[in-house]
Amino acid sequence: MRNIGLFKKSLATVVLGASVAAMVAFTAETNDPWPVPAEFEKMKNPVKSNAESIAIGKELFAKHCKSCHGKFGEGDGPKASELKTDCGDFTSDKFKAQSDGAIFYKTKKGRDEMPNFGKKMTDDEEIWHVVNFLRTLGK
Ligand code: HEC
Repeated sequence: MRNIGLFKKSLATVVLGASVAAMVAFTAETNDPWPVPAEFEKMKNPVKSNAESIAIGKELFAKHCKSCHGKFGEGDGPKASELKTDCGDFTSDKFKAQSDGAIFYKTKKGRDEMPNFGKKMTDDEEIWHVVNFLRTLGK
Protein backbone atom coordinates (compact mmCIF):
# COMPACT_ATOMS: atom_id res chain seq x y z
CA MET A 1 0.00 0.00 0.00
CA ARG A 2 2.72 2.37 1.01
CA ASN A 3 4.57 1.71 -2.22
CA ILE A 4 1.50 2.53 -4.29
CA GLY A 5 1.09 5.81 -2.43
CA LEU A 6 4.70 6.62 -3.09
CA PHE A 7 4.29 5.65 -6.74
CA LYS A 8 1.28 7.95 -7.13
CA LYS A 9 3.17 10.76 -5.46
CA SER A 10 6.16 10.46 -7.72
CA LEU A 11 3.91 10.13 -10.76
CA ALA A 12 2.16 13.35 -9.77
CA THR A 13 5.54 15.05 -9.36
CA VAL A 14 6.66 13.91 -12.80
CA VAL A 15 3.41 15.06 -14.44
CA LEU A 16 3.53 18.41 -12.66
CA GLY A 17 7.20 18.87 -13.53
CA ALA A 18 6.56 18.06 -17.17
CA SER A 19 3.69 20.53 -17.43
CA VAL A 20 5.72 23.30 -15.81
CA ALA A 21 8.61 22.58 -18.21
CA ALA A 22 6.20 22.62 -21.17
CA MET A 23 4.72 25.92 -20.03
CA VAL A 24 8.14 27.50 -19.62
CA ALA A 25 9.22 26.25 -23.05
CA PHE A 26 5.96 27.49 -24.53
CA THR A 27 6.16 31.01 -23.11
CA ALA A 28 9.86 31.24 -23.99
CA GLU A 29 9.17 30.41 -27.63
CA THR A 30 6.13 32.54 -28.19
CA ASN A 31 6.57 36.27 -27.87
CA ASP A 32 3.62 38.12 -29.31
CA PRO A 33 4.09 38.97 -32.98
CA TRP A 34 5.76 42.36 -33.32
CA PRO A 35 4.18 44.16 -36.26
CA VAL A 36 6.44 46.50 -38.21
CA PRO A 37 4.88 49.49 -40.02
CA ALA A 38 5.25 49.27 -43.81
CA GLU A 39 7.42 52.39 -44.08
CA PHE A 40 10.03 50.77 -41.80
CA GLU A 41 9.67 47.30 -43.31
CA LYS A 42 10.66 48.67 -46.71
CA MET A 43 13.23 51.17 -45.46
CA LYS A 44 16.58 50.88 -47.18
CA ASN A 45 19.69 50.66 -45.00
CA PRO A 46 21.55 53.89 -45.87
CA VAL A 47 24.78 52.74 -44.21
CA LYS A 48 26.96 50.46 -46.30
CA SER A 49 28.01 47.34 -44.46
CA ASN A 50 31.80 47.28 -44.41
CA ALA A 51 34.50 46.51 -41.84
CA GLU A 52 34.32 50.00 -40.36
CA SER A 53 30.53 50.01 -39.95
CA ILE A 54 30.53 46.52 -38.45
CA ALA A 55 33.27 47.53 -35.98
CA ILE A 56 31.25 50.56 -34.83
CA GLY A 57 28.11 48.39 -34.58
CA LYS A 58 29.97 45.79 -32.55
CA GLU A 59 31.13 48.42 -30.07
CA LEU A 60 27.62 49.84 -29.69
CA PHE A 61 26.22 46.31 -29.30
CA ALA A 62 28.72 45.57 -26.51
CA LYS A 63 27.73 48.79 -24.75
CA HIS A 64 23.94 48.67 -25.13
CA CYS A 65 22.73 45.20 -26.10
CA LYS A 66 25.06 42.43 -24.92
CA SER A 67 23.78 42.44 -21.32
CA CYS A 68 20.46 40.97 -22.50
CA HIS A 69 21.12 39.58 -25.99
CA GLY A 70 24.45 37.91 -25.16
CA LYS A 71 27.88 38.24 -26.73
CA PHE A 72 26.84 36.29 -29.83
CA GLY A 73 23.23 37.55 -29.95
CA GLU A 74 21.75 34.24 -28.89
CA GLY A 75 19.58 35.82 -26.21
CA ASP A 76 21.65 34.58 -23.28
CA GLY A 77 23.18 37.72 -21.77
CA PRO A 78 23.53 37.95 -17.97
CA LYS A 79 20.34 40.03 -17.66
CA ALA A 80 18.22 37.70 -19.82
CA SER A 81 17.28 35.39 -16.96
CA GLU A 82 15.72 38.31 -15.04
CA LEU A 83 13.34 39.09 -17.90
CA LYS A 84 9.85 37.73 -18.47
CA THR A 85 10.26 38.00 -22.24
CA ASP A 86 12.52 35.88 -24.40
CA CYS A 87 15.20 38.04 -26.05
CA GLY A 88 15.11 36.06 -29.29
CA ASP A 89 18.06 34.61 -31.18
CA PHE A 90 19.82 36.87 -33.67
CA THR A 91 21.54 33.84 -35.21
CA SER A 92 18.23 32.12 -36.13
CA ASP A 93 16.85 31.92 -39.67
CA LYS A 94 13.63 33.49 -38.41
CA PHE A 95 15.49 36.56 -37.22
CA LYS A 96 17.64 36.79 -40.34
CA ALA A 97 14.56 36.66 -42.58
CA GLN A 98 13.58 40.14 -41.38
CA SER A 99 14.41 43.25 -43.37
CA ASP A 100 17.07 45.66 -42.13
CA GLY A 101 14.26 48.19 -41.72
CA ALA A 102 12.35 45.87 -39.37
CA ILE A 103 15.42 45.36 -37.17
CA PHE A 104 16.06 49.11 -37.23
CA TYR A 105 12.44 49.76 -36.19
CA LYS A 106 12.49 47.32 -33.25
CA THR A 107 15.81 48.69 -32.00
CA LYS A 108 14.74 52.31 -32.28
CA LYS A 109 11.25 51.95 -30.82
CA GLY A 110 11.49 48.98 -28.43
CA ARG A 111 8.51 47.55 -26.60
CA ASP A 112 7.98 46.35 -23.03
CA GLU A 113 11.25 44.82 -21.80
CA MET A 114 13.11 45.69 -24.97
CA PRO A 115 14.31 49.25 -24.33
CA ASN A 116 13.67 52.07 -26.76
CA PHE A 117 17.08 53.01 -28.16
CA GLY A 118 15.88 56.01 -30.14
CA LYS A 119 16.78 58.05 -27.05
CA LYS A 120 20.22 56.56 -26.40
CA MET A 121 21.28 56.52 -30.04
CA THR A 122 19.81 59.76 -31.32
CA ASP A 123 21.80 59.48 -34.54
CA ASP A 124 19.97 56.91 -36.72
CA GLU A 125 23.26 56.09 -38.38
CA GLU A 126 24.41 54.44 -35.14
CA ILE A 127 21.41 52.12 -35.19
CA TRP A 128 22.16 51.16 -38.80
CA HIS A 129 25.74 50.30 -37.77
CA VAL A 130 24.27 47.98 -35.11
CA VAL A 131 21.96 46.43 -37.74
CA ASN A 132 25.02 45.78 -39.94
CA PHE A 133 26.76 44.11 -36.99
CA LEU A 134 23.72 41.96 -36.15
CA ARG A 135 23.80 40.67 -39.74
CA THR A 136 27.24 39.17 -39.09
CA LEU A 137 26.12 37.06 -36.11
CA GLY A 138 25.84 33.30 -36.48
CA LYS A 139 28.05 33.19 -39.56
C1 HEC B 1 17.09 45.00 -20.97
C2 HEC B 1 17.30 43.96 -21.94
C3 HEC B 1 17.53 44.31 -23.39
C4 HEC B 1 18.49 45.14 -23.91
C5 HEC B 1 19.55 45.95 -23.16
C6 HEC B 1 18.32 45.10 -25.35
N1 HEC B 1 17.28 44.28 -25.67
FE1 HEC B 1 16.60 43.84 -27.54
N2 HEC B 1 15.13 42.70 -26.77
C7 HEC B 1 14.93 42.46 -25.44
C8 HEC B 1 13.73 41.67 -25.28
C9 HEC B 1 13.16 41.19 -23.97
C10 HEC B 1 13.21 41.44 -26.58
C11 HEC B 1 11.90 40.74 -26.96
C12 HEC B 1 10.85 41.81 -27.00
C13 HEC B 1 9.47 41.35 -27.40
O1 HEC B 1 9.34 40.49 -28.29
O2 HEC B 1 8.52 41.90 -26.86
C14 HEC B 1 14.13 42.09 -27.48
C15 HEC B 1 13.96 42.10 -28.85
C16 HEC B 1 14.82 42.70 -29.75
C17 HEC B 1 14.68 42.66 -31.19
C18 HEC B 1 13.59 41.92 -31.95
C19 HEC B 1 14.00 40.48 -32.06
C20 HEC B 1 13.21 39.68 -33.07
O3 HEC B 1 13.28 38.45 -32.97
O4 HEC B 1 12.58 40.27 -33.95
C21 HEC B 1 15.72 43.36 -31.71
C22 HEC B 1 16.03 43.61 -33.18
C23 HEC B 1 16.51 43.84 -30.60
N3 HEC B 1 15.94 43.42 -29.42
C24 HEC B 1 17.65 44.59 -30.74
C25 HEC B 1 18.37 45.11 -29.67
C26 HEC B 1 19.52 45.95 -29.84
C27 HEC B 1 20.14 46.32 -31.16
C28 HEC B 1 19.91 46.33 -28.58
C29 HEC B 1 21.02 47.28 -28.21
C30 HEC B 1 21.07 48.53 -28.91
C31 HEC B 1 19.01 45.68 -27.62
N4 HEC B 1 18.09 44.95 -28.33
C32 HEC B 1 19.10 45.79 -26.25
C33 HEC B 1 15.71 42.89 -24.40
C34 HEC B 1 16.78 43.78 -24.51
